[in-house]
Amino acid sequence: APALNKDIANAVPAGVYAETVTAVQHYTDRLFRFRMTRPAEFRFRSGEFAMIGLMIDGKPLYRAYSVASPAWDDELEFFSIKVPDGPLTSHLQNLKVGDTVLMRKKPTGTLVNDALVPGKRLYMFSTGTGIAPFASLIRDPETYEKFDDVILCHTCREVSELKYGFDLIDEIRNHEFLAEVVGDKLKHYATVTREDYPFKGRITDLMRSGKLYSDLGVPPLDVAVDRGMICGSAAMLKETKQILIDAGLNEGSNNKPGEFVIERAFVD
Ligand code: A2P
Repeated sequence: APALNKDIANAVPAGVYAETVTAVQHYTDRLFRFRMTRPAEFRFRSGEFAMIGLMIDGKPLYRAYSVASPAWDDELEFFSIKVPDGPLTSHLQNLKVGDTVLMRKKPTGTLVNDALVPGKRLYMFSTGTGIAPFASLIRDPETYEKFDDVILCHTCREVSELKYGFDLIDEIRNHEFLAEVVGDKLKHYATVTREDYPFKGRITDLMRSGKLYSDLGVPPLDVAVDRGMICGSAAMLKETKQILIDAGLNEGSNNKPGEFVIERAFVD
């Protein structure tokens, strides 16, 4: 019978999690976030990504997504772009509460505290949805045990695209435990490139001109105390990485911690 065929076609593949969407929030016609249930046995480190998927025409389709929620949260959060003809996001953007999302079992990634050598100040450089792993890390108390200052830099084309970041900061300031742990250690530096706003420009230009540091009231990059994490488009990663290298910082990994780490943000 057709009904049976459809059920078989949409059956959850073996060996992956099938989770239930608990919340969906759209920010702009290009950005949204969703939350879903978390399997009790699923463990990850704040900043890691997982393979998230949907059954499309009877086949599972997965893409890498940074988990935006912290490791202690009993739900999982994701911040996604919406691409009109994107293979996954054209479907993902229609998610409703109660829908099923697939997730492969093993998380991974380099934007983790373990991949950085100790330091004083942690810069998180992000553009667009590249803020997602940092949404996880700024809500993890471990980040504040490791660093005295945490500077979340987020650049988008338009002001409306910054809202997810501002909501995160509000959530932290109003959170009964996090507010105290974070104290005044967290700074949020948000800029836009294609609209009027008090803080304008690409993060790379703001680093090169030094305006980032003067706006924040901190000295320029210093390998003795500063650490970095970068998440954005391929071009943004390349340019930001070069600025850190020029300042004497070395790239780290899980096997060999260093002074900065990078990861490409999800693209389609
Ligand atoms: P711009 O508006 O000048 O292109 P996107 O949505 O295309 O991923 O861009 C997100 C943000 O990243 C935009 O503000 C964009 O600026 C900025 N951006 C794009 N390329 C680079 C780059 N090579 N270095 C730094 N920022 C970049």
